[in-house]
Amino acid sequence: MRSPCLKSLSITLIVALSTFAPRQGLAASPEPVKAEHGMVVTAQHLASDIGVEVLKKGGNAIDAAVAVGYALAVVYPTAGNIGGGGFMTIRFKDGKTTFLDFRERAPLAATKTMYLDDKGDLVKGLSTEGYLAVGVPGPVMGFEFARSRYGTKPLKELIDPAIELAREGFVLQQGDIESFDGETERLARDPAAAAIFLKPDGKPFAAGDRLVQTDLAASLSSIAEKGTDAFYKGAIADAIVKASADKGGILAKEDFERYQVRELEPVKCNYRGYDIVSSPPPSSGGLIICEILNILEGYPLSYLGYGSAETVHAMIEAMRHAYVDRNTALGDPAFVENPVAKLVDKSYAKEIRAKIDPFKAGVSQELMPAGFTESKETTHYSIIDDEGNAVAVTYTLNGSFGAGVVAPGTGILLNNEMDDFTAKPGTPNLYGLVQGEANAIEPGKTPLSSMSPTIISRDGKPFMVIGSPGGARIITITLEAIINVIDHGMNIQEAVDAPRVHHQWLPDKVFMEPYALSPDTRKLLSAMGHDVQVDENWMIWGQAAGILVGGENVAEIEAGGGARYNGAVDSRIGAGAARGY
Ligand code: DON
Repeated sequence: MRSPCLKSLSITLIVALSTFAPRQGLAASPEPVKAEHGMVVTAQHLASDIGVEVLKKGGNAIDAAVAVGYALAVVYPTAGNIGGGGFMTIRFKDGKTTFLDFRERAPLAATKTMYLDDKGDLVKGLSTEGYLAVGVPGPVMGFEFARSRYGTKPLKELIDPAIELAREGFVLQQGDIESFDGETERLARDPAAAAIFLKPDGKPFAAGDRLVQTDLAASLSSIAEKGTDAFYKGAIADAIVKASADKGGILAKEDFERYQVRELEPVKCNYRGYDIVSSPPPSSGGLIICEILNILEGYPLSYLGYGSAETVHAMIEAMRHAYVDRNTALGDPAFVENPVAKLVDKSYAKEIRAKIDPFKAGVSQELMPAGFTESKETTHYSIIDDEGNAVAVTYTLNGSFGAGVVAPGTGILLNNEMDDFTAKPGTPNLYGLVQGEANAIEPGKTPLSSMSPTIISRDGKPFMVIGSPGGARIITITLEAIINVIDHGMNIQEAVDAPRVHHQWLPDKVFMEPYALSPDTRKLLSAMGHDVQVDENWMIWGQAAGILVGGENVAEIEAGGGARYNGAVDSRIGAGAARGY
């Protein structure tokens, strides 16, 4: 037994250490990456390097975002793409903000029931595999829209590093290989995809192998030379339309010719004095993050503590209510009226709080709106430049390697974004989302997304750039990174690494990452009526990429500041990197 004297000495030591020692990581995360002039955080280190190079050569954050977008299409083929779609949130150095929607549009020949059989039942795989799953891609038009309006560099300069990586190839590391795991069978089904993403013997790539993408290099070169017409009006569109027609798809040349980027007003709200700017419809992300934050503002999360049963209960109930709105009320703004003002209204959040029992789990079925019938891969990157321009981009092929198809000769992987529509009201999609009529398929319509590229400012200055992949969980992953920083005082690395919980109304379950909740907390939550389930599928827990400005955490910022830019790539990302200069 320790002597009382020793015990009091150790107590004194603990007090002394906790008072005087520099604050160490809460979650045993590595330190954020620190820099003074610019920061680029992406899911693949070569893309981060390319982004930083653009910044060093005097390009702004928008230039870097375009270069990174093209680079990830080469070095992160599971999600980086020009055959999918995405969103870009921009906060300029003068505080103005904008949002670019370059997500997929449904082909003109799409119909509401295209994934159903004669009996009205969903045909498995139709909305996720092959050409019928493909929406009209937007990134080439989106990047060019961003560059020509807000960038400073010529397209060729921004796309050249990606062309070189595609032509010369790059050596795959362990982190790169992880995203190919389990995809061999799907990729083997499409000869053009297999020829690029599998070895000549049909085996998957291993660490140390070189991935060369000659056709993609040629497609990128023609875009560098001819601009967006190369993709939307020229040989690339022709090749995709031909492959689609040959393989049972419905893409037409007119779909490509009509494609347009939308510049939209971002969603805005305020959480405990922080100004949040995020994605508007056709994303649900910004609205639902704001709705959940507004509800949570009424609870003293900081006092209740990270991971406590009370904090988690409040989060789950806020998520439960907000996902009802997500899944039933939202859709493409060109086709449906979205209740934007209501969902970001603090008094609506107050009404919801009044319905939340502090001691008892809600019941999802009871929140079913009248008339509602029930029956990977994305990537996010965050950039900030020396002038303080901040860019958050989330773009996706939807599932890992999208629809698993490449139009012969193009080297371009195509998305399966059509699965984000409501293929059949009340029937879960790839991410278990049970959605309604507002998100039904219509020609030219954009499927509802959860992608949430988000930029936060405080007192008129940039504070945080954040976002993540993760399907339906993107919203809660981004939300949790925000409250981990603002309420729980974590540094940006801890905030993106901390284990997560998720609820999406239906199924009525609380999903937790392994170790997210202690056995005691789980018991308390179960006693309240929550059905808590550990979800070990790490892929769907996202891969956040964040930047905090002025210090690595709120305490450091408030104490006068640390490094200007603090970058953190989620430890769940195998090959990612935060790079600054
Ligand atoms: O737009 C969306 O919400 C989905 N297509 C995102 C898919 C995704 O995040 C997959 N990655 N894990």
